[in-house]
Amino acid sequence: MSERVRAKITALGTYVPPRVLNNHDFEKMVETSDEWILTRTGIRERHVVDKGVATSDMATEAAKCALARRGMTPKDLDALVVATVTPDMFFPSTACLVQHKLGAQGLWGFDLSAACSAFVYALQTGAQFVMSGTHKKVMVIGSDAMSSILDYTDRATCILFGDGAGAVILEAAEDGVGLIDFEHEIDGAGGCSLYMPGGGSLNPSTHETVDKKMHFVHQDGQAVFKYAVRKMGDVCEKLLSRNGVTAADIDCFIPHQANQRIIKATADRVGLAPEKVIINIDRYGNTTAATIPLAMQTAMDEGRLKKGDLVLLASVGAGFTVGATLLRWTL
Ligand code: UT7
Repeated sequence: MSERVRAKITALGTYVPPRVLNNHDFEKMVETSDEWILTRTGIRERHVVDKGVATSDMATEAAKCALARRGMTPKDLDALVVATVTPDMFFPSTACLVQHKLGAQGLWGFDLSAACSAFVYALQTGAQFVMSGTHKKVMVIGSDAMSSILDYTDRATCILFGDGAGAVILEAAEDGVGLIDFEHEIDGAGGCSLYMPGGGSLNPSTHETVDKKMHFVHQDGQAVFKYAVRKMGDVCEKLLSRNGVTAADIDCFIPHQANQRIIKATADRVGLAPEKVIINIDRYGNTTAATIPLAMQTAMDEGRLKKGDLVLLASVGAGFTVGATLLRWTL
């Protein structure tokens, strides 16, 4: 692999909406408690959009932030991949809406659906364009407005998620330093454990699908939890071993933020010391495709992620979708 051109992250931008719902707000909505949410998930609060603000709006803000930090204009971009499970609408794609909002004429792009693993999948997809030489500056965005598909009377799901977006720019790494390798896997047998049944071609929207709450997130929490703990560790170990890397070599572990207990169990199994593990679920909840770029930002803000660090990303999400990425940090 050393002969190949690598892709590297040359900018990171994030956005979360200003409105915050904390655990005490949920105590007024459903039968729950701050103590239950905090101990079972690690979440204290999450950001949610106001009515009328969509996934593309957050994605556009994150994109602008990344572009400004790189000193680039939207017209400098060659391709755009938007990872999301909450597109503004079925079509046009959120990528088209973001392209238009940015005013990035001539840009090519598309959406990628892989739920909580969508950012790592999109990162690898964007990297392939850079590595093949077909596109020089590729933006990858993870953006989700989970509040738009939550049943705020279902305590088992509504407390878990938040809204947000993160964007990175990928460019060629002439020095050979950047994204190193990835290990991804999908497993459709787990589709019924976490899904939104209504609104697609199987169950088109009707009064009945609305009455049956089929346009909301449905989750078998325990089944997803068990799968996540097992598979996140599996892909991390496989990726590290294939690259001759040990847990001690990893400087920073940036996992998908679905549950603090899943993160800690994975870190323990892989042998990653707690000080290397980035957790910000307390502030944002599970923002689906946005968790990893938001956690990258947290790691940088806290001085726990520096240029040259060896970084491990990992995720498990609806599908099931599983992914892990090994990279050298370049910001
Ligand atoms: O990013 C996408 C992937 N998603 C995930 O990775 C999520 C994975 N799953 C989880 O994180 C956990 O399973 C949950 C946080 C969703 C639930 O935690 P748990 O420890 O697995 O709880 P549980 O589902 O086994 O429920 C335990 C009890 C139940 O009551 P009973 O039957 O024991 O009386 C639930 O009804 O907790 C109850 N419960 C709640 N109680 C207070 C469920 N939600 C709540 C709540 N507040 N919000």
